[in-house]
Amino acid sequence: MRQLNLFEKDEIITGAPAKAANHSYRHCLKGKFAGLLHEELRLANLVSYVGNKGIPVLRLYRYKEAFAFRFVEEFISRFGLCEKDYIFDPFCGMGTTLFAASQKGIPSIGVDKLPIAVFVAQTLPLFYTLEPGQIKETFEKLRTKVLQAPPAVIALDVTIMKVAFPPDTLLALRKWKTVIDDLESPLRDVFLLLFLSILEPCSYTSKDGQFLRLIREKKVADTEEALQGKVYEAERDIRLVKEIRWKQPVQSPAVYLGDTRNLSDIAFECQPTAIITSPPYANRYDYTRTYSLELCFHFVRNFAELKDLRFSILRSHIESKVDSREKPPHRAVSEVVDILRERGKALNNPRIPDMLTGYFVDMQRVITEWAWVLGPGARVAMVVDNVRFEGESLPVDLVLSDMAEEAGFQVEEIIVARYKGNSSQQMGKYGRVPVRESIVIWRKP
Ligand SMILES: C[S@@+](CC[C@H](N)C(=O)[O-])C[C@H]1O[C@@H](n2cnc3c(N)ncnc32)[C@H](O)[C@@H]1O
Repeated sequence: MRQLNLFEKDEIITGAPAKAANHSYRHCLKGKFAGLLHEELRLANLVSYVGNKGIPVLRLYRYKEAFAFRFVEEFISRFGLCEKDYIFDPFCGMGTTLFAASQKGIPSIGVDKLPIAVFVAQTLPLFYTLEPGQIKETFEKLRTKVLQAPPAVIALDVTIMKVAFPPDTLLALRKWKTVIDDLESPLRDVFLLLFLSILEPCSYTSKDGQFLRLIREKKVADTEEALQGKVYEAERDIRLVKEIRWKQPVQSPAVYLGDTRNLSDIAFECQPTAIITSPPYANRYDYTRTYSLELCFHFVRNFAELKDLRFSILRSHIESKVDSREKPPHRAVSEVVDILRERGKALNNPRIPDMLTGYFVDMQRVITEWAWVLGPGARVAMVVDNVRFEGESLPVDLVLSDMAEEAGFQVEEIIVARYKGNSSQQMGKYGRVPVRESIVIWRKP
């Protein structure tokens, strides 16, 4: 662990001339939190999903925004959590936190606004309830029915659905979807998860970096072969879980489709004693685009529903709508938003100031909700990425920590897990300036 010497890295991070930086709100924030900021770069591998490739069951669905199972284990241990605790993940994604908590026998609860994420988080524990051979046997039965099956109704009016698949593949996928829908639970959900995980390999798309990219020359996988491959992977994991005697969760984690900006409808069993989480980053990433194939196959009926979903998630993407009365809720954010607005049309994307405004307004609401639902003494570990647009850096970790203090939390630590390079476009124009990916640690007194 190395404490950072009054932002030696941050001088690189702001990229701004020292004189201007000295007078900025961002610089004040740096001064305020300097003593709490330190590097633990050995955590770098734990803040990405890559570490989950070796974890049975969790690896069956690639939710690439997930953090690693070991990350959650690490913070369960650092916080000294046990069976008497109650862990909350307000942006639970595929449920990594909940999955790791249940391995330790700790009750947990998760919320996410994206139906595919909630579905994966609810379905992964079902794999424990199956016996070896059950999935393979069901697959063989489905195989005899699929040719005769009518194609399932899916959201075909969404543009990407018209170009993502070769026509034969799309038809085969729709027929498989029909026979899967006819199964009884838990096999229906288990098969649906395996089915959704093959949509990307069976398409011309690739979940690349920030986008769902269309690659016309991509070799598309055969539907039946791809599903069979997943069936084998699932069988392998079910056997493995039994061999290594992983505990079947005493009680499956509760997972809600909900909005963490308003937790009033969430049925908490008691006040959570810890949050281990990671929100969307303020980096233009749109979950409803990356997961549009999965959403169109099962979770939305048409483009209108997909669009509604896009505008209902946290405002971390470029199409986010901002009311003219909404203002950045922190001076460091206003500072960046004002600089970017002044550049007007010269901005690479003129919607970035609105996105940043919406993002921090939303995160302020989120933090206020957490301050309300958590029990006294509860700890928060949250992974966040700082961002940099047009040479202007925004220390998201410090801004959110400052907001957390205002909401009544104590900021205990800001751990730098890794530094990320900026885009080649920005690098050419503004120089190579790495930005932090940090873990903020807060406590409710
Ligand atoms: C970085 S991911 C979390 C991944 C998670 N840690 C995991 O291991 O799978 C952020 C999540 O926030 C969700 N999200 C976006 N807006 C939300 C909102 N308003 N309320 C709750 N979840 C939201 C996204 O759908 C996404 O799953």
